[in-house]
Parts: sequence; structure tokens; C-alpha cells
Amino acid sequence: MRTLTASRLNVLYDEFLDTVRQFIIRHKITEGEYQQILGFVAELGQSGEAPLLMDVFLGVTVDDLTYEHLNRLGGTRSNLVGPFYLEGAPLRPRPYRLGRDNEPGDTLYLSGSVRDAKTGAPIASALLDVWQTAGNGQYDHIDPDQPDFNMRGKFVADGEGRFEIRTVVPEAYQIPVNGPTGRMLAALDKPAWRPKHIHVKLSGDGYVPLTTQLYFEDDPWLDKDIVAGAPKPELTTRLEKHDRPDEIAEKDVDRPFYTARYDFRLVPAS
Ligand code: BEZ
Ligand code: FE
Repeated sequence: MRTLTASRLNVLYDEFLDTVRQFIIRHKITEGEYQQILGFVAELGQSGEAPLLMDVFLGVTVDDLTYEHLNRLGGTRSNLVGPFYLEGAPLRPRPYRLGRDNEPGDTLYLSGSVRDAKTGAPIASALLDVWQTAGNGQYDHIDPDQPDFNMRGKFVADGEGRFEIRTVVPEAYQIPVNGPTGRMLAALDKPAWRPKHIHVKLSGDGYVPLTTQLYFEDDPWLDKDIVAGAPKPELTTRLEKHDRPDEIAEKDVDRPFYTARYDFRLVPAS
């Protein structure tokens, strides 16, 4: 991944300042407004919400620009990592599962495969690092009622590149609204919601790693995501409900459950 070198920083710095100065002049930003912006930036820094606000406004553009070429090479479309990824999720034992026994919410079996973008060949032992909200729409590191890493885990695909993970259907959620990000969005009259989604980082020996998100058809928030442009049609799958007694008995659950499927494609590194 390219990061900022001193020479590139020099180029970006000059043009960035020029663009912002032009913006200030065009909109006749006053000293009073400027002081208000400084106060907001200071509060944003103190609150630790800077990555959240930046991701809401700019994350999709940067992700699209950086990784669109992988999609043109036949790889699965990438999607922004977002501010809620945590390093160090545990490698889960088989049979694969996220959440506690009796995790509240609708049981979901997420299955699929990881394949070579060029040949379609399965990528044996591909690694999936998955994170999502629980059924209450809360990430575990924010929700005091969930254990650490409750809805996060690493999973290894089998020899045929296949995986199946028992989890719960994530819920649409409101990003944190009590800090400066929430206040800014409220002032703009923008509902601070994201549709339900599951984040995945995928990797395989000899393949370009991919970070993406899966969305679900018929979610009313899909076209109103506060992270505008994040939900892509090609990353949207379907939740199938299973309520027949024989299906319920076969899966060893005690009530109707859902399945969803997605086949990922990784681009060879060479
Ligand atoms: C998320 O995917 O969880 C997320 C992404 C950008 C901003 C806020 C949340
Ligand atoms: Fe998320």
C-alpha cells in the first residue's frame, strides 16, 4: 500500500492549501465561522472520532480509487474498512461460529467460497477475518453487554475454498451520535444510519488481500447509508428464511433461521 512520501506530501500540501483557500474565498468564510470550525476540529481530536468522521465523508472515495483496478481484473469489489475493525480477532475452531450460545437475534448461516479471480479455482485455506454488529446493531467494543471480540473472528476456508459460519443477522445501526460527528450530522439533518452489513478481510497465499463488506437485499437503509456510496449492488446478497421443521431440525436450531451466500474472488498477486 502506498503511503505518503516527503516529496508527495509537498505536492499535496501546496495544492490542498490552495483548494481550501479558494473554498474560503468562494464561500466568504468569516472569522467567526473559522473560530467555530477550529473549535469543532479541537473537539473532534479530543473525542477520538476523527477516523469515524473522515470515513463517513471520504472513506468510500479513497477505497474506490485505490482498489477499483482489482475489480476490473475480476476480483470482488472492495469496500472501506471503516473505523470499527480491531486487530487480533481470535482464530475460531470448527464448526465456525460468531457470538455466544443463545446470541440474541436471528441465526444466520453465511456460506460461500473464495476463488481465483482469473481461473475460478478454489483458494484452499484462504483466511477470512470477519466482524459485524450483533443482532442489536451494536459493535462488541462499544456495547458493554457483549464480551470482547463477540462478533469478530478469523476463519480458514477448507481445501475447496469453502466456508460456512454460524452467526446472527446483523442489524442496521446508528453510528455514535453523542459526539461531534453525531452533532454535525444532526445539524445537516442527515440520519446517521448504516444498513446491516458484514465486514470481511480476505487473504490467501499468492493473492492480493481484499477488504470488503456484504449487504442484504431489501434493507431500507441501503440507499440512505450515511456512508454514501458504500453499498454496492455487486456486494449485496439475499437473506433466505428457513422455517420448515425439517430444515430447522437439520441445522440443530430451535427456531427459523436464515442463510446467505457469497462467493469471493481474489486477484493473483503476480
Ligand atoms: C462501518 O462500516 O462500520 C462504518 C464505516 C464508515 C463510517 C462509520 C461506520
Ligand atoms: Fe460496520
